[in-house]
Amino acid sequence: MIITIDGPVASGKSSVARALARELKSYYLYTGLLYRAVAHVLLDRLKKEKTRRPFLPEFQEYVEELGPDQLEFVSDLCYDYGKDDDGDRPYLFYLGEEITHDLYSSELDQPASIVSANKHVRDALLDLQRDVAKRYDIVADGRDCGTVIFPQAEHKFYLTASPEVRAQRLMLDEKRGPLQKDIEKVEAELEQRDKRDRERSVAPLTIPEDATIIDNSELTLQETVNRFLRAIGS
Ligand code: C5P
Repeated sequence: MIITIDGPVASGKSSVARALARELKSYYLYTGLLYRAVAHVLLDRLKKEKTRRPFLPEFQEYVEELGPDQLEFVSDLCYDYGKDDDGDRPYLFYLGEEITHDLYSSELDQPASIVSANKHVRDALLDLQRDVAKRYDIVADGRDCGTVIFPQAEHKFYLTASPEVRAQRLMLDEKRGPLQKDIEKVEAELEQRDKRDRERSVAPLTIPEDATIIDNSELTLQETVNRFLRAIGS
């Protein structure tokens, strides 16, 4: 079975998808982790070229020029689960080395959003995502899961919350590195990423036609999960 959850930044997709995967004994496919991995590798490459960390506009220019030939490294990415873990904890490997932990950093928020607008990057990641669904029952979260990657999904959701609530959640997420204190800055970045996701020409963030829309601004995680379970009929 395939369940998809699309929605804007920090709408709670990851927490809900993880909890649902546990509840339904299926596997969590965090598609954003793949875009983060691509950004991580490309940033590293450009850093070596420039012998310093590239500025964001330089990175954007570099990514806009990328074609399929420079993306062959995507076949060296591997998305998998620990043998003894539940399916709610994915790992990402690059050339056999586990890089999961680095990928959650807030420093990759904007670079991941930038690489995700490149059509060749999206094409290169398509099979990787679909292969996971061939091996497992999945709960997938992202921006185009119900529209492009898994249009055949049995259950589709669009999860959202107010920009204020989402910015608060982003600030309090400890996986993302040192806590960001400036709420206005966080709100501005969130808005910029959402805008890029909604306005890009390839696989933009939209509400899938047949999706159940859930706004969880005023719901706890458990209340949100319960709504999903009711909609799925579990
Ligand atoms: O989900 P997360 O915010 O970690 O994803 C990082 C970035 O990857 C997002 O800002 C979005 O631009 C991009 N993304 C995407 N399509 C997906 C998942 C993520 O464009 N299916």
